[in-house]
This record gives sequence, C-alpha cells and structure tokens, in this order.
Amino acid sequence: MDVMQVEDSLGVTVCRRQPLVIERGEGVFVWDQTGNQLLDFTSGWGVTCLGHAHPVMLSALASQAARIMQNPNSGFTYSPARARLLLELRQVLPAGLQRVYFANSGAEANDAALKLARKITGRQRVLAVQGSFHGRTLATLSVSGSADNSARFLPSVPGNDFADITGLAALINQDIAAVIIEPVQGEGGVKAVPAGILRQLQQRCREHGALLIIDEVQTGFCRTGDFFAVTASGVTPDIMTMGKGIAGGLPFAAFAMTDALAGAVELGDHGGTYCGNPLSCAVAAAVVGYLREQQVGDHVKTLGRIMLQDLLALQQAFADIVCAVRGRGFMLALALHADDQVWPLTEVCARHGLMVTPTRNAVVRLLPGLLLTEAEWRLGLSRLQAALLELRAQHSGQAQCA
Ligand SMILES: Cc1ncc(COP(=O)(O)O)c(C=O)c1O
Repeated sequence: MDVMQVEDSLGVTVCRRQPLVIERGEGVFVWDQTGNQLLDFTSGWGVTCLGHAHPVMLSALASQAARIMQNPNSGFTYSPARARLLLELRQVLPAGLQRVYFANSGAEANDAALKLARKITGRQRVLAVQGSFHGRTLATLSVSGSADNSARFLPSVPGNDFADITGLAALINQDIAAVIIEPVQGEGGVKAVPAGILRQLQQRCREHGALLIIDEVQTGFCRTGDFFAVTASGVTPDIMTMGKGIAGGLPFAAFAMTDALAGAVELGDHGGTYCGNPLSCAVAAAVVGYLREQQVGDHVKTLGRIMLQDLLALQQAFADIVCAVRGRGFMLALALHADDQVWPLTEVCARHGLMVTPTRNAVVRLLPGLLLTEAEWRLGLSRLQAALLELRAQHSGQAQCA
C-alpha cells in the first residue's frame, strides 16, 4: 500500500504534510516506514505528555479495554474509571474548580464552556484576544482571533469582540457573558499573557459579573511546568478548559467550574455519546496520577530553563534566521524572520531527524514529551543546529524581524 497516495486522496487537513510515514513511537522518539528514527518535538501537537507508548498508559489502556470501553454518557450510569479520574483531578485542579464535565476535544470543551457561560450569566457577548486559538468548531472559531481561520466561514457566531491583550479589560461591562483567554497563546506563536493582565481581567470580570474562561487545552498538564499555567498568576478561573495532555494521546477533554456556577447547569445542558467514556477516563487517571506523583512539572521547569538558555545562545548564532526565542517549560518557540521560512525549517529539521511544530506568525514550536531527558534535549539541539546550518546554506542573507 502506498500510504502517502492513499492519504492524499482523502483530502486536505489544516496543515501541509511532510513526506514522512510515522509507524511507531517510543518515549520521545518516532520511527518512519523506512526505519529512520526521529526525535519528536511535536508530541502530536502537544498531546503525548508521557511520550509514546508509556507503560503506565499501556497498562491502563489494556486493563480498561478488557473490562469495558464505553457505557452511556456520564450521568446515565456510574463508572469506577470516571470516579478515579475525578479523584485525580481533584488533587491538581486550581482550588475552587470542583465541578468537572467531560468532552472529546479541546474545541468541544471550549464550545461547551461558551455555551454554558451564556446560560449562567444570561448574557450573550464574549470577548477574546487577537491572535488567540480556541478550536475549529463554528463557535470556537468565532472566538479565535485569527482572520485566516474564522473569516473563511462567515457568518461567525454573533456577539463576540476581539481586542489586543492590553485593551481587553476595558471592554468588560455588564453585557459581557465571558472572556476567553489562553494563559500562553499556543497557535498564536507561544506568547505568554503577563500575570498582571490576567489578574486585571479577573478583577474586571468580577466587578461586572462576567466569567473568566481560561483555556488550558495546550498549556495544561505540566506543559509549562505548572500543572496549569494560570496558577502562576494567582488567578482562579471561573471555568477552565482542558484537553491534549489530559489523556496523553487518547482523544479526550474536560472543563471545570465552581460549585456556584455549576448550580445553574441543568440536565441536558452538556453531554455527548463518548464524553467521560471509561477507556479515556482510565488512561487520563493514569496520566494525571503519574504527572502528579512523579512531580513531572518540576522536571519541566528545571530542564525548560536550560532549554531556553540553549535556545537563546542558538538564536544569537543564527540571528540571520531566528529573530527571537521564547517560552515557558516545554512550550518553546523560535520566531523566524519570515513566515515563508517556517515550512523549509520544519522540513530540514525532519531530514536531520527532528520533528518540530510549525505555527502562525513565523513561529516554529518545540513541544517535546515531558519526560525528555537532558541528553535527549542535547541530541535535539544538535539536530536543530544542523538544520539551521543547512537552511543558512540554502538561503544566505540577512532579514529583519517580522
Ligand atoms: C489553546 C487551544 N484551545 C483549543 C484547541 C482545540 O483543541 P482540539 O484540537 O482538541 O479541538 C487547541 C488546539 O490546538 C488549543 O491550542
């Protein structure tokens, strides 16, 4: 079977494909069809937090699959796997967020959070940040501040406004149901929101009865070192959405809110056939338990600081290609001089045995599995350096920062 030909005949997705057929993975490595080993600094778009084929996940998956994978959506029956996950989440969620609901993707969790915010507040308008990304459903695209995504599917869900991060708080008034924000913009190019701005947003929301929805889909589950990135600012969200790393690779998501808000949620307001299915819950419980017990966040903070220092040195050596580096924990970005350098760098990296994640605004992201060792980081760094050297040879010449 010609895998690439078959897949190409199925239709395009959101991103170009590289001519790479990934067959298997273990830890932070993957292997292609021809047996080539690559370091995976994508984690399947920031998902495989424990790396590929981690024994803890495999064991939870196999034992739960042999028991029961699916029973009707949470609420209709009870499930020990779901209860285990809820107990795990209780130990890591920001204080006050006791009520958890399940979903199957980050977009779905955000969609539900937006929907429930309207119902809880009795208001319709939502504020979001320019350059943000919250998913690809119609409602989440409508609060995603990137014209290249949302403008293709007009009309958007009405009632939303966007502002620059510094101008958002001033727009909060009695008409606003919610503000939705990522603590560190992921798809927008790894841009952290200053803690002071998050606190200001929380204060304005409280003054005007609006809800603060923090989207931790990409940043959650120790990606930035803290279990949830928002906690570094001291802000407690009214609603917090989660996805990606929550189940280490299984499609799964959740959102949590305070008891007081959950009082307004009624039977039938949120659910779905697969929400809270026991298989995903069992794996998520194993992943969250492992992250917590092994204090993976501390490792991410320590190694993440070293990685950022190394990248700063790399940026100076390749200032003709890379104009800035930034990030927190294992959510790191190389900002290039121009958008049209992103794809060539991604391809050259792959040829040198390193998979990286291209994103908007001339940025290439590094999102390795959270158990990456320092030796594996050094290997990745040397491959990145080799790729930049090759790119320089291809496109010599200076450029200005975008
Ligand atoms: C911050 C954020 N929110 C929501 C989403 C959407 O999640 P999903 O792709 O699981 O629907 C993403 C995906 O990249 C994301 O980064």
